[in-house]
Amino acid sequence: MSGNKQMPKTSERKKTTVQTFINKKAKGEKITVLTAYDYYMAKLLDEAGIDATLVGDSAANVVHGFDSTLPITMDVMVAHTAAVARGTEKALVVADMPFLSFQPSTETAVANAGRFLKEGQAEAVKMEGGVEMAATVKRVVECGIPVMGHIGLTPQSIHRLGGPKVQGREEKSRAYLTESALALEEAGCFAMVLELINADTAREVTASLKTAATIGIGAGPHCDGQVLVINDILGLREEGFKPKFLRQYADLPPIIAEAVKKYIDDVKRGDYPGEEESFYNK
Ligand code: KIV
Repeated sequence: MSGNKQMPKTSERKKTTVQTFINKKAKGEKITVLTAYDYYMAKLLDEAGIDATLVGDSAANVVHGFDSTLPITMDVMVAHTAAVARGTEKALVVADMPFLSFQPSTETAVANAGRFLKEGQAEAVKMEGGVEMAATVKRVVECGIPVMGHIGLTPQSIHRLGGPKVQGREEKSRAYLTESALALEEAGCFAMVLELINADTAREVTASLKTAATIGIGAGPHCDGQVLVINDILGLREEGFKPKFLRQYADLPPIIAEAVKKYIDDVKRGDYPGEEESFYNK
């Protein structure tokens, strides 16, 4: 819900498609995206009116406890995607292609992108990489699979980039990002994530694209839309995780801890289950 406006019921809202992204960019309407990894969270986001849910490979970090996104596999990502799709009615479901599921060859990319639509019921896939991935993106789009690009800080290349550094500050990096965004749009991307990019560069990239919507995370206010990791906005991360770009909207850990402590206490005291929570013959 935003301001005084009541969000229409899920059943009354229109289904988000890739065309919705393009139309919203044309009209200057902001696009909202959050990550989701499971059925129930996807359902909550959908009912709250999110435009798209991204089944991010950040699942590797926030669901599976890895310290990078590199270890997560196709099978695990397809399972997360299918769960999110089952919980989603109106939002566009975008599946994130994991490390080495699309980089080795165009054939690999088409086959794995296809799995997300066939087995995961996704409606689009996301691929990290700039101009060097344009030919692969083009082939996947030609096969009928919508692609969201992802440039700037691309976590699958974290070792090459040397850490989570803001991209697009220097001229060389700015030129690479601009060239990449145009190449991805030309290849058929309907949208692209701009991650951890200097806000002026992100504004320039956004203005240079005719149809492809930019979805920022740590890329300033001038993008066509924004995406954040659901765990981050709910405070479900390691203590001290507080990147500058993050706005935390809720603090769930103390609420969960309190509920769990009450449960432990009730069981230990013999207070749970009570008579009304038990089954007897009469
Ligand atoms: O995996 C992910 O969650 C992402 C977003 C940060 C854009 O790629």
